[in-house]
This record gives sequence, structure tokens and C-alpha cells, in this order.
Amino acid sequence: MKKGLPGPGTVEVVPSILSADFARLADEIAMVASAGVKMIHLDVMDGHFVPNITIGPPVIAKLRKHSDLIFDTHLMISEPARYAEAFAKAGADNITFHIEVTDEPDKIVDQIHALGCTAGITLNPETPVASIEEVAPRCDMVLVMTVHPGFGGQEFIDEAARKVVAVRQIVGPDIRIEVDGGIDPDTTPIVTSYGADTLVAGNAIFGQPDRVAAIRAIRQACK
Ligand code: DX5
Ligand code: ZN
Repeated sequence: MKKGLPGPGTVEVVPSILSADFARLADEIAMVASAGVKMIHLDVMDGHFVPNITIGPPVIAKLRKHSDLIFDTHLMISEPARYAEAFAKAGADNITFHIEVTDEPDKIVDQIHALGCTAGITLNPETPVASIEEVAPRCDMVLVMTVHPGFGGQEFIDEAARKVVAVRQIVGPDIRIEVDGGIDPDTTPIVTSYGADTLVAGNAIFGQPDRVAAIRAIRQACK
């Protein structure tokens, strides 16, 4: 049974495992779960859409056995339609794909929904909001990239984050707006003031010795 996204009206901190210890992933996820997070962000990179390679369905299937958190799967891959089913079968709950890789985003959203998952659309820092205007209301989440995808620990791009304001006008209050890249206690009040309610953080959590304290620090920085 797939898990839906948390209902609207809350700010969720979503740890990205990209900066976690990949040799101890289940323990790392259990640690952030103990801080009360509802979602975990799984970054999938294909070495083609982005210049890096991470994990695929087999790793997600193994993690699924160790965690009841909502698996928020961010596909930084050139062919999301080809692999969506494999990710759904592996245990993804939400599947987010990039607008830059397709001319038929509606079809992919329908495909993801037919697989029983919630669907997210995302756009790179240089991609205009107009590109997602039509498809966004059909999605459960819009992810506004606040760094160029591919690597953790990059610097937050405020100009990209500002697109959250326009996205919020398009989707209204009930669709989640996620931000991803450079989110930490300093940038959190900025993105929440723009209207983001779903905050992915990799380095700011898994780069800290005390992950629970790091999550608390981001929550306390919310405006
Ligand atoms: C970047 C990934 C992010 C990454 C964020 O391409 O999509 O999810 O883990 O990392 P930080 O929070 O370190 O910028
Ligand atoms: Zn991501």
C-alpha cells in the first residue's frame, strides 16, 4: 500500500540520503526517523541527465524493508517513463521527474498515478515556471530546484528559490512545494517565506554529527 504525502498546512523537513553514509543507509534512515520526519528523499541519478550516478530500484527495494517513511523519489534521469514502474515496484511512494526531459509530462503524471504513487514535477534553476504551468495542478507536489542537480553540498541559489512564489500562485495552498539544494537553518526562513512547505536537506543533516539536532535546527528556523 502506497503512502500519500502529508496533508497541506505543515512544513516538513525531508532528509536527503545523498550526504548519508551509504554503507549504513538503514541506520542513517532510522536515526532521522527518530527525529519524527515523515519523508525521506531518495536521489536517483543516471550519469546522463546529471553528471553523477547514485542508486536505482534494487537499493530502494532493500531500504523499503527497513523503513515505513514516505519514500520521496527524485528521478534525475533522462527516461522517467521507462523506469517509473520499476521504482514504484521497488517501494517509491512519491515519484518526481524533471520537466526538462519530456514534452509529455501529463502522460508521465498519469502513469505515476496509475502505479499508485503520488507525482511530483521539478524544474532546474534556469528553467522557467511557465514550463510547468500546465502540468503542475495535476501533480501532488512541485519541486523547485535551488541548486543545479547532481551533487550535495552546493550553494543555495536565491533567484531559483524565488520561483516558489509564482508556483504557489499557480497551484494554490493544497499542493506541496518542495525545495531542494542548499537548505539549512540560514536559508530555511527564506524559502518558507516564499511559500515552500517541504524542505529537502542533505548536507545540513547528514553532514552534521548529530542528525536529530540538525533537523531540530531547521525546524526552529521555519517562518
Ligand atoms: C541535488 C539533490 C539534492 C541534494 C541536496 O542534486 O537533488 O537532493 O541531496 O543536497 P544539499 O542539501 O546538501 O544541498
Ligand atoms: Zn533531490
